[in-house]
Amino acid sequence: MVKNEFVAHSEDNTKSIAIQLANVLIQQGLGGLTFYLNGDLGAGKTTFTRHLIQALGHNGNVKSPTYTLVEPYEIEDIKLFHFDLYRLADAEELEFMGIRDYFNDNSMCLIEWAEKGWGLLAKSDVEINIMIDNIHDDNRLLEFVATSDAGERLLSALER
Ligand SMILES: Nc1ncnc2c1ncn2[C@@H]1O[C@H](COP(=O)(O)OP(=O)(O)OP(=O)(O)O)[C@@H](O)[C@H]1O
Ligand SMILES: [Mg+2]
Repeated sequence: MVKNEFVAHSEDNTKSIAIQLANVLIQQGLGGLTFYLNGDLGAGKTTFTRHLIQALGHNGNVKSPTYTLVEPYEIEDIKLFHFDLYRLADAEELEFMGIRDYFNDNSMCLIEWAEKGWGLLAKSDVEINIMIDNIHDDNRLLEFVATSDAGERLLSALER
């Protein structure tokens, strides 16, 4: 199992880690990858995602998809979808939005609160676990765990 751990002492450190991941993604290609972002409310899932999307080349805002469930971006010829399923009330909502079509070789998906997706989502390639250090407010432990062969290729390159 390939796993990387990072300690971020500030949001700026989190941004540096997002930039490192973005660089490997740019080398290897974004298409077909699915990331689940796990962590408590306020852990920093959206913050990490924002820095990642911007490091991938998006020059604009990245707002939390809390109310819209999904926000789309375009990175070169890849569609990137940022989901936040926290407010999802019913799996039918995902069926209704045509959830299967979001996962394909020309898209990359970053999903907060994936556990609310009740098996309707693509399997993850990488899980990003973010933990808060209760003693030092801005400290975060970031753990990247590969959950597929593609995820392993990505994280192995990140290690080097
Ligand atoms: N080291 C750090 N890395 C990331 N965010 C940090 C860090 N230190 C402090 N923060 C702050 O923590 C907050 C994280 O909020 P964010 O919305 O990203 O959390 P979230 O995990 O997406 O929560 P939710 O489950 O509600 O969507 C932000 O206000 C951010 O500035
Ligand atoms: Mg969030």
